[in-house]
Amino acid sequence: MEHRRLGRSGLKISEIAYGNWITHGSQVEEDAARACVATALDEGITTFDTADVYAGTRAEEVVGRALAGVRRESVEICTKVYWPTGKGPNDSGLSRKHIMEAVAGSLRRLQTDHIDLYQAHRYDHETPLEETLRAFEDLVRQGKVLYIGVSEWRAAEIGDALRIADQMGFDRIVSNQPQYNMLWRVIETEVIPLCAKEGIGQIAWSPIAQGVLTGKYRPGSPPPAGSRATDPSGSGFIRHFLEEDVLTRVQQLAPIAAEAGLSLAQLAVAWTLQNPSVSAAIIGATRPEQVRENAKASGVRLSDSVLRRIDEILGPVVVRDPARTTSPPRRP
Ligand SMILES: NC(=O)c1ccc[n+]([C@@H]2O[C@H](COP(=O)([O-])OP(=O)(O)OC[C@H]3O[C@@H](n4cnc5c(N)ncnc54)[C@H](OP(=O)(O)O)[C@@H]3O)[C@@H](O)[C@H]2O)c1
Repeated sequence: MEHRRLGRSGLKISEIAYGNWITHGSQVEEDAARACVATALDEGITTFDTADVYAGTRAEEVVGRALAGVRRESVEICTKVYWPTGKGPNDSGLSRKHIMEAVAGSLRRLQTDHIDLYQAHRYDHETPLEETLRAFEDLVRQGKVLYIGVSEWRAAEIGDALRIADQMGFDRIVSNQPQYNMLWRVIETEVIPLCAKEGIGQIAWSPIAQGVLTGKYRPGSPPPAGSRATDPSGSGFIRHFLEEDVLTRVQQLAPIAAEAGLSLAQLAVAWTLQNPSVSAAIIGATRPEQVRENAKASGVRLSDSVLRRIDEILGPVVVRDPARTTSPPRRP
């Protein structure tokens, strides 16, 4: 497993990270979750991504238990704050009150005294950015959080955060966590250029488009039993990729993967990692074999002709509109 610097920070993270959205505490049982984490560690993955909102806070508990016996210095634990963890008006967003209370809960559930990377899970239009950044800065000074990142922020929002941090003498955010895969490239025109200039690393989520880029969802066939598309907590999120045209074109990638000696899943993870602005691709998995397979994409270099052929096949179905990066206008 290769490691990359997280943007311009001194932190190294495994270029393939393991995340537990939809899976831990929800789609998969505890023993399968633990087996996936054990396999991730075995494959050299050191970076683990979760969020307080996943499975209504249970996902943090599961990964906390799974990593409990592991030497703390050997892993990077990343979590997030913003989406609701309760029904009250201050149980979501990026106010000082919610950030301070949320971090206490995350530290407890993760069984650790510090979070390596604490990420704003979306932009909060109802809280002044200065308030949010000062709360994060306080957590860094308290040693509860080592680095600050954001997720799905627009270029202008990231730019504002950098300007305020510089004016107020705060540590800068070091990362953004966007969706980025062969089918979803909305960060390429605005977010990546700004972040590359400012030294912000991308931690890309859903590198295999939630399973779609494995080719297992076939046009004209029902989704395979046990897959995310059949899971009550996952089906709503994957649905927009399950279009006949998308699925047909994904099947056409199979010979390209085979020629490169890769599975389709490995081709997809490797594609995300070809972008030098990407510090890591976060893979999800319901089974250890998936972790084992996908982790092998580390270190793979795709030739220009492979990248060109992928673009020729997928071109018409790739989503590129930067306006698709959005946060709710009001706190959820
Ligand atoms: N910041 C954000 O807003 C945000 C949003 C979403 C995700 N994330 C992060 O990104 C992580 C990864 O997201 P993701 O789970 O959507 O990533 P993904 O790697 O694109 O998809 C993972 C899913 O695809 C299927 N799969 C994986 N490998 C496979 C293989 N080799 N063969 C067949 N099926 C395979 C599995 O689902 P089935 O077996 O059920 O089909 C697995 O759970 C999350 O855990 C989270 O940490 C962040």
